[in-house]
Amino acid sequence: MSDKVTVKKILKMKSEGKKIVMITAYDTPFARLVDQAGVDIILVGDSMSMVMLGMENTLGISLREMLVHTQAVAKAKPRALIVGDMPFMSYELGEKVAMRSAGLFAKHGAEAVKLEGGEEMVDIIKSIVKLGVPVMGHVGMTPQRFLKLGGYRLVGKKEFEAEQVIRDALAVREAGVFSVVLELVHPEVAKKITEKLDIPTICIGSGPHCDGQVLVLHDVLGLTLNPPPFAKKYVDLPSIVVDAIKRFADEVRQGVFPSQ
Ligand code: KIV
Repeated sequence: MSDKVTVKKILKMKSEGKKIVMITAYDTPFARLVDQAGVDIILVGDSMSMVMLGMENTLGISLREMLVHTQAVAKAKPRALIVGDMPFMSYELGEKVAMRSAGLFAKHGAEAVKLEGGEEMVDIIKSIVKLGVPVMGHVGMTPQRFLKLGGYRLVGKKEFEAEQVIRDALAVREAGVFSVVLELVHPEVAKKITEKLDIPTICIGSGPHCDGQVLVLHDVLGLTLNPPPFAKKYVDLPSIVVDAIKRFADEVRQGVFPSQ
């Protein structure tokens, strides 16, 4: 598939000034649909814990669950680059653990992995890159550390925080990531980081001055009960689904379905 999006193509998009579109998907049918829509990157995000599995936060999802869903996305054989999101406790314990988890993602069809954290993750990132698996960084508000951060909030309003998030982005770049997610970073700080880095920044809740944007699929489709304020709903899928199921139920009750 010559059209296939690769890490190299994602890097080239920054130099050509083309905006990068990333969205989450967690199963085969939706991976097919988002790919048909022409996104550049499909993230099998650990947000699956909340939007698919009803969990309160992202800490509870296991490596096993992430691998099963990564494989399901890979079965769609998308043109888009598939990035597997390393869940909490699958990489922080050391280089060997991180390499093993990243290797398992690759065996299940991921073409890159994403992990959260900045300066403290440099050695972990280097070890995964050395293994041959491309890494996407994730700095700013890192949901797997929400307990330490004291909730989900904008990062970088205060000068010391802005300086730290810039140091984190530069550190993960030095460690070898091919792109970096900036989550809930003050837009001016996100702009500064985007200008400083030679790799793409992909933003969520961090304003427009980034090389790309990512949203959670279920927020886009209106399937999330309490979406974050920065998310945009592009369709009210629940009303379409409920209407279809109601029509099915009506036809069964009236003896219209199945027909002779
Ligand atoms: O898990 C996820 O969906 C993410 C995005 C919000 C970047 O990490």
